[in-house]
Amino acid sequence: MNIALLGFGTVGSHFYELASKQDDIRVSTVLSRRARPELKCAVTSDFDEIVRDESIGVVVEVIGGVEPAYSYVCAAMRAGKHVVTANKQLMCEHYDELLALARKSGVSLRCTAAAGGGIPWLSSLERVSRFDTICSVEGILNGTTNYILSAMTENGADYAAALREAQSLGYAEADPTADVEGLDARRKLVLSANLAFGVSVKENDIPCVGISHIKAADVAKAKELGYTFKLIVHAERSGDSVSAFVCPTLFPVTAPEAHTGGAGNIATLRAEHIGPQSYAGAGAGGFPTASSVLTDCYEVLRGCGSYYTDKAEPCKIGNSAARFRWLLRSGGDYSFETCAAAEAFRRYYALLESDPDALIARVAE
Ligand SMILES: NC(=O)c1ccc[n+]([C@@H]2O[C@H](COP(=O)([O-])OP(=O)(O)OC[C@H]3O[C@@H](n4cnc5c(N)ncnc54)[C@H](OP(=O)(O)O)[C@@H]3O)[C@@H](O)[C@H]2O)c1
Repeated sequence: MNIALLGFGTVGSHFYELASKQDDIRVSTVLSRRARPELKCAVTSDFDEIVRDESIGVVVEVIGGVEPAYSYVCAAMRAGKHVVTANKQLMCEHYDELLALARKSGVSLRCTAAAGGGIPWLSSLERVSRFDTICSVEGILNGTTNYILSAMTENGADYAAALREAQSLGYAEADPTADVEGLDARRKLVLSANLAFGVSVKENDIPCVGISHIKAADVAKAKELGYTFKLIVHAERSGDSVSAFVCPTLFPVTAPEAHTGGAGNIATLRAEHIGPQSYAGAGAGGFPTASSVLTDCYEVLRGCGSYYTDKAEPCKIGNSAARFRWLLRSGGDYSFETCAAAEAFRRYYALLESDPDALIARVAE
């Protein structure tokens, strides 16, 4: 099977290396803006050459961002080529349209690396949802925030110092907003919830609170109470809607999430018959992420269908039924209460008006 590889950065270069060791999969062309004389395959900066090349069966998109990835992926599918991507932003923003195009064109569309990096999380949701009803999905799906929170927990570091350390080690970008404010995690939650429940939810409908308000004193207080802070994505079925949010969460120090250190990820599904199943490992990094992309290519080779599921019912976010225990902090005052997520976020947003540093965290039982 001949593959065209779009993008030769962290994921692309590691994918190229892994693919070069396979017998039945071969990168025949790389799309690159710069010359790459070191590569043994064709290199082009003209995407149309790839579209016209009938020997190419699969396009692997690891450029990132929406454009030109969106135009390339659509053109590839229209030309009858299967697509494997690691791009959560693209998949989230154009979910319905890309699924419909894959179906109409009769090609596979896979994106396992887009949530959980090297963990077979999305493909496990696909597998379990074939024979069971998934009731909830939850987990740590952003390695950057987990690195920062782990540093704060282990060394008592201040948020700003832990962020600087994460940036100096390459775990956080120069502009860390998408990670620390939970936006990256929310995109992964959208893909997870869509697949788990056979729905299509909208990113901007999901309440999202990141970690930038967590202070060293909050971490110390949590420790005193036997808890550890983690940034968690959560979604569950709630009648005709889906309850979903991204929020700092306090886990008992004995919980597996509390032991997921560094840039690690852990994601748990709960299904009606099989109960909880957790998947843990490297949520990012060249080889782990490339291994998920390669596995998707093998799924294509095996003849898997268009997308993981044909079900993508438009679905509203409804947070008024699911009840949890919450911690709210304004100034130095902590209070705990049990209420629906919608009510907790309403109180938190009201608090922010008088205290821009206020904090909300769910307390996991
Ligand atoms: N890194 C991870 O651990 C990880 C984990 C999970 C998912 N992902 C996803 O994987 C994708 C790629 O991430 P990455 O970390 O590999 O990014 P990256 O290191 O920044 O690599 C991006 C590559 O795309 C190339 N590129 C950008 N615009 C292009 C264009 N117009 N035409 C051709 N090539 C272009 C860049 O080329 P130049 O070298 O010329 O700039 C670079 O080689 C993203 O969607 C990301 O969210 C990454």
